[in-house]
Amino acid sequence: MYDRHVFLLQLSFDTTFIMLDTTIIDAVITTPRLKLTRLTRADRDSEEFAWLHSLYSDEQASFWSLGGKTNSLDESAAKVKRVLSSNSQTSPSYQYFHLVHDIEDRNNPVFVGTMNLKAVENGGLILPAQLSLTGASEPGVLSLEVGYGFLPAVWGKGYATEALDGLLSACSKAKEALKPYTKLYVQAVVNHSNLASQRVVEKCGFTYLGDFVYEGEPVFIGGKWREKDTVQVWGWRSCE
Ligand SMILES: CC(C)(COP(=O)(O)OP(=O)(O)OC[C@H]1O[C@@H](n2cnc3c(N)ncnc32)[C@H](O)[C@@H]1OP(=O)(O)O)[C@@H](O)C(=O)NCCC(=O)NCCS
Repeated sequence: MYDRHVFLLQLSFDTTFIMLDTTIIDAVITTPRLKLTRLTRADRDSEEFAWLHSLYSDEQASFWSLGGKTNSLDESAAKVKRVLSSNSQTSPSYQYFHLVHDIEDRNNPVFVGTMNLKAVENGGLILPAQLSLTGASEPGVLSLEVGYGFLPAVWGKGYATEALDGLLSACSKAKEALKPYTKLYVQAVVNHSNLASQRVVEKCGFTYLGDFVYEGEPVFIGGKWREKDTVQVWGWRSCE
């Protein structure tokens, strides 16, 4: 797990690191009930890996993940590797994966889910330009995509909304660190049947931009194989 001091120390000693990984937000973000901790690696014998395995092997939490739940530690390890590595089109590659802990009992933080902000990946859905907020592709605008998942035991308590809100506020405050970009655009792609997630982005101030119909190779998502599916595209822009 990356501690802010370790991160800053590394910045001061290793300029190559700066080229590879520009930070735009703090490594730890706190909200009234939650702590978001940036994660860059999770070794197989670490508690971070155990937390992620508990999430990825849960059928409900992984219902809207491509491929569904993982069925073994090996499958979870492959997924962890995939989510923590970057296959992005931007340079540097922006990747802000966070573990989310409930800190209502300060002495006993409890892992509840993940919140990920990353560059849109090569090989991902290619969305038509009209499904972006106006100006999202202009020079100076950094476009990222958000993804999240929480353990079913904590659903309905407002945690996903609080965590996403906290992440977006941290990004909005990080104007200096955003350079050379001047604005941030965040996209959320949500399955048309995933009403809870649609409500989360709506509560966090995203604008609904329209539907995109996927047709092609069958993918396992939402409990079944689908050759055709509809997703909603939502967009959020940092204030000028
Ligand atoms: C989507 C998810 C993150 C929501 O987490 P959460 O912590 O329960 O979210 P919140 O409590 O902040 O908000 C959920 C909202 O959806 C609403 N909601 C939940 N189920 C709903 C349903 N079936 N129909 C309509 N609204 C629903 C809740 O009432 C709440 O809205 P409200 O505050 O107006 O009452 C969680 O269900 C999850 O992890 N799902 C699996 C992974 C996933 O779908 N990730 C997103 C992929 S795009």
